Amino acid sequence: MKDLSKLAFFGGKPASEQPIRPRPIIDEEEIKAVEEVLRSRNLSSLAGDKTKKFEEEFAKYIGTKFAIATSNGTTALHTALASAGVKAGDEVIVPPFTFVATATSVLHQDAIPVFADIDKETFTITPEDIKRKITQKTKAIIVVHLFGHPAEMDEIMEIAKEKNLIVIEDCAQAIGAEYKGKKVGSIGHISAFSFYATKNMMTGEGGMVLTNDEKIANKARLIRHHGQASTYHYEILGYNYRITEMQAAIGLVQLRKLETFNNIRRKHAKIYYDELKGIKGLELPVEKLYAKHVFHLYTIKLTEETKVSRDEFVKYLRAENVPAGVFYPTSLHLEPLFQNLYERGKGLDFYKNISYKVGDFPVSEDISRRVFSLYTDPILTDNEIITISSAVKKVISIVT
Ligand SMILES: Cc1ncc(COP(=O)(O)O)c(C=O)c1O
Repeated sequence: MKDLSKLAFFGGKPASEQPIRPRPIIDEEEIKAVEEVLRSRNLSSLAGDKTKKFEEEFAKYIGTKFAIATSNGTTALHTALASAGVKAGDEVIVPPFTFVATATSVLHQDAIPVFADIDKETFTITPEDIKRKITQKTKAIIVVHLFGHPAEMDEIMEIAKEKNLIVIEDCAQAIGAEYKGKKVGSIGHISAFSFYATKNMMTGEGGMVLTNDEKIANKARLIRHHGQASTYHYEILGYNYRITEMQAAIGLVQLRKLETFNNIRRKHAKIYYDELKGIKGLELPVEKLYAKHVFHLYTIKLTEETKVSRDEFVKYLRAENVPAGVFYPTSLHLEPLFQNLYERGKGLDFYKNISYKVGDFPVSEDISRRVFSLYTDPILTDNEIITISSAVKKVISIVT
């Protein structure tokens, strides 16, 4: 370790004079689209036509027959599980290194999330560990294309076919990413997207379920709207998971910009790579030959050569006036909720037998201690990306 006093955290001059702040791009087009909906007075998807259009255009873009827009990515995942017929006590295999909603959506269906470990390079669930976790009770697998990098879909689809399992793709962070030339979200049996404000395209809050299966699509539509098959006639248990027309109108505009946004994110990732490659203490993200990565985040691993903890590293980096995130600081199986599902969940008897301990998912645990993420948001300029890189170089050179 060198002279810590050079770090802004200890009073040194920050790498960026002003704070750099990632945020969504919102132009006149999005503002006009929302204004148009407001002026029409048709704010609900039950009254207007924006949601239907958004669904049609999104399904066409990803390459599926059916689309059901929902209020957010979590409700999209829950709708996907419920429409796939996942029931109380069924097991659903999920990665432990993901946003919590991937696993809690399984709990919302009174089913059991069964974790399977991730790949140390792509951070996505491995086919090998999926195979090990399959039991008589397994009904589905949720694959997460984390940070914008696709999971190993061919092998996963093969396992699912052999064992008669449903594959749900969680594409919240990978809108527009490709696996062997196919858009993610068109490969599994069902997929779920999020359009939360930070996503590669956004509607503030919003989600989408995609499928090629008409029966699943019809069921998903019922689930989204109280299980209502015709006016005040209720066929199955449903919810109110509808999106608003304002959100759908923003989505239509953002969808047209998505390819441009993703190209900028990829360009920013290339700048990070060029600036940071070969630096002691850092392991940069990979893009597998089969993949088109859309770099929702540029997630870097700190190596053993770094002499401070990841959390200290990020604290120092932020003090340099540059944005940095930690996704995710804890492998989900070690979170209090999953340590005591019976007490902290819905108190269903079959949660009594579930126990996870440190060491159960070594890759996920190791990665969650070592990663930090840089932002690639299209609103950031190339110069800002270079400034962020220089802050990383400054901090790492001092703490290795
Ligand atoms: C991998 C993953 N799954 C699910 C979600 C849930 O989406 P939302 O926040 O829209 O509910 C998110 C996003 O926040 C996510 O990143």
